[in-house]
Amino acid sequence: MRFMWSFIAFSFAFCSSVRAEVFVKELLSPDKTVSVGFHCSDGKAIYKVSFRGQPMIRGEKLGFILKDRSLTEFSVQSASTTTHNEVWNPIWGQSNTISNNYSELNVALLSGKTRLNITFRAYNDGFAFRYELPKQKGVKNIQVLSEESTFSLEHISECWWSWADYNTLEKLYNHTDLDSVSHVAAPFTLKRDDGIHLSIHEAAIEDYSTMTLKKVSGSSFQVNLVPWADGTLVKSKYTMRSPWRAFLFGTNSGELLTNNLILNLNEPCNINDISWIKPMNYIGIWWEMHLGISTWKDGPKHGSRTENAKRYIDFAAANGMKGLLLEGWNTGWENWGSPEAFDFVTPSADLNLKEVVTYARSKGVEIIGHHETGGDTKSYEKHLEKAFQFYHDLGIRVVKTGYAGPVTPAGEHHHGQCMVQHYNKVMKMAAKYRIMLDVHEPIILSGLSRTYPNLMTAEGVRGMEWNAWSEGNPPSHSCTLPFTRGVAGPMDYTPGIFDIDLSMYKDQREKWNSLDNGQSAVHSTLSNQLALMIILYSPLQMAADLPENYAGHPAFTFINSMPTTWDETRILDARIGEYIVMARRSGTTWYVAAITNETGRTLVVNTDFLENTGNYVAKSCSDAKESHYEDEPETYILHSSELESGNKPAFNLAPGGGFIMKISKQ
Ligand code: NOJ
Ligand code: CA
Repeated sequence: MRFMWSFIAFSFAFCSSVRAEVFVKELLSPDKTVSVGFHCSDGKAIYKVSFRGQPMIRGEKLGFILKDRSLTEFSVQSASTTTHNEVWNPIWGQSNTISNNYSELNVALLSGKTRLNITFRAYNDGFAFRYELPKQKGVKNIQVLSEESTFSLEHISECWWSWADYNTLEKLYNHTDLDSVSHVAAPFTLKRDDGIHLSIHEAAIEDYSTMTLKKVSGSSFQVNLVPWADGTLVKSKYTMRSPWRAFLFGTNSGELLTNNLILNLNEPCNINDISWIKPMNYIGIWWEMHLGISTWKDGPKHGSRTENAKRYIDFAAANGMKGLLLEGWNTGWENWGSPEAFDFVTPSADLNLKEVVTYARSKGVEIIGHHETGGDTKSYEKHLEKAFQFYHDLGIRVVKTGYAGPVTPAGEHHHGQCMVQHYNKVMKMAAKYRIMLDVHEPIILSGLSRTYPNLMTAEGVRGMEWNAWSEGNPPSHSCTLPFTRGVAGPMDYTPGIFDIDLSMYKDQREKWNSLDNGQSAVHSTLSNQLALMIILYSPLQMAADLPENYAGHPAFTFINSMPTTWDETRILDARIGEYIVMARRSGTTWYVAAITNETGRTLVVNTDFLENTGNYVAKSCSDAKESHYEDEPETYILHSSELESGNKPAFNLAPGGGFIMKISKQ
């Protein structure tokens, strides 16, 4: 079938029972670069999307199979288009201004006697659609057995993807052709043979199951939803609204990173007073447990003891770090993995939490609380309000949550609707108690932080911790992440390790994780670690190493003065999985950062993004000649020089290397 229609609405009438009627409607994005053609005839509803004149997506099927009816054959009841043109300012993020311009087509469909609405949106750099099953007579106890959404992709040459998994997002990515792809997690990132890049994800996962994509044939994929324990995919009482099925387009890979489609598809901020929501850097009593030199649970090697917490606070206060995460502050870790392990309010015997919080406050440091649930959401929900009230009363305003373990209720999947409901309940409860969240083992982010900006960041990534107790993450992993997981939203990857070969406490490390083969190391150079703090965006950005590895280290000055929210972000050069060069601006200060995969390379920075007027000072940390992520990871060069707009400094990146350059106006 050729991708060409004469987009003429040549026949539109109320055609509820006239299946032969043909309905055709074209939707153009505000600058006309994206066009969407919707077509309904013989009961079949399909769509086609093009970008810059190139056919991109062919929507082959729409609709649902519900337990009591099929919504797969349609007639068009009505259709209307609107346009939207808005500029909004996120409280934190990768740029201070986001334009949200789109054209929208609302189609009211009838399938048998059941009404189903589909909204299509054409943005200048993307396309999205969502379903709504409106409240109507005869529809109740909705049970979805299949979301039929099926689409095929045109001219795909390369794909970056991880295997679909209903329980974890902590995976490495594959780089293959389309033939090798069968069942993938979202976001799914692809490149076409004409150089156009696209990423497929979902936005606004409010009360629905999360999506994976399953190949049905050739280049066709169907939305595959994570089921409930009883096999049903989505349950709802009277009405149902799917997340947006979102397709981000870029003329190159970098444009995927400055594409705001996922955020724009979410509702505006729903919190009136946002004065308490503040991005920040932080350290944590955390890496020492992952290294196996202290423990979460009470005992002789317990990490979160009063005096250890005070030692970290002193370091944070003296070194410009704003937050301190306290993991293992509470009782219950000895039963981690068993039901009802935690009550979320009882500090361990060797930690005076009140004293620690008061001490931190007196030094201008925020304590970041921690709720490890072990996946026992049933128990967590029971304690939830009391647990947030407890933190609120103590003056704790940031909480990290975690779900490391199989989900309770038993049989539920981590990424199913049951858990979506749970995470969104926690997000709203946190907002009620003015608490910012960092969610580990989350469901994939979908831009909800536009509506609830207290949902600051999330893991959902094979992060730094894997380097402490497994074979770790290869250098190409972090060169892939911005274009894959990063499309969904902020990432609590926890970069910034300086003791890269983990030699500092080598003799004291105890194996606690079965994936630990005793050979663990961070697979990157030190300059790469600094660059990751810029490249992997998180408004709560952790510097993950131990204070003793930072104290007095000349490169630490890059970390403790680094902003955690940006006025502007530009991708200067990138190839997915190979390298990336990024520039971010806060006020008049720019940070340029780059990382490379296993291959060393020279990268030139064109500084024409700087204003022509004025002189700048550039301070950089980069790899030395002998640097190498395996043999010589901790060697680096510090350099300072004057700079003018248009200068083109060149950096040699070691294998697994990187650089960071801070450019300040004089
Ligand atoms: C896994 C999380 O990713 C990690 O950050 C945390 O330290 C442990 N679970 C314990 O809660
Ligand atoms: Ca984790």
